[in-house]
Amino acid sequence: MLAIYPGSFDPVTNGHLDIIERCAKKFDKLIVAVLENNSKTGMFSIKEREDLLKYSLRDYDNIEVATFSGLLVDYVKERNIDIIVRGLRAISDYEYEMQMALTNKSLYDDAETMFLISNTQYSFLSSSVIKEIAMFNGDITGLVPQIVGEAMEKKIKEGKFNGNI
Ligand code: COA
Repeated sequence: MLAIYPGSFDPVTNGHLDIIERCAKKFDKLIVAVLENNSKTGMFSIKEREDLLKYSLRDYDNIEVATFSGLLVDYVKERNIDIIVRGLRAISDYEYEMQMALTNKSLYDDAETMFLISNTQYSFLSSSVIKEIAMFNGDITGLVPQIVGEAMEKKIKEGKFNGNI
């Protein structure tokens, strides 16, 4: 079975990695896909997000990091993907996720979404929260992979992040 875990990953956090690693154990192959046409202006370019994911997931031989643009269901069809995976951190995620899953299914009946409950350790995490902590010199150790923490520090030091989370 081929699964996809799509998202904006600006940047990838340990919460995402938890979902990815658990998923990779259950499926033959997992595509971690970065959305290109994102309305959110971020900290990292799409290429940087992809590279940070590739480095963080370099030890997994059944994980592919890719990018996609346009509708998720079109990419799902194109790649013959069986399952879309999303993480649920809290009840507050449910409404948005349900809307997305139902929209995708209405566009393409074969688009099935499976939800994994986030590890409680990461249920409060989001990429925005981490960017905010980093911007004010807070400690993000344990919240993101080391390479991501270093890349964030560099962006902030070089003034390449305008605080738009
Ligand atoms: N751990 C930590 N953080 C998590 C998380 C987890 N397990 N799961 C989600 N998050 C965070 C993300 O970091 C992100 O935080 P941020 O808003 O602070 O950046 C937030 O939750 C949601 O992020 P993400 O999972 O990347 O969802 P998204 O809403 O940005 O994008 C897509 C979701 C890419 C799947 C969706 O927009 C999409 O499919 N777009 C393509 C267009 C399309 O097909 N539209 C029709 C379907 S609605």
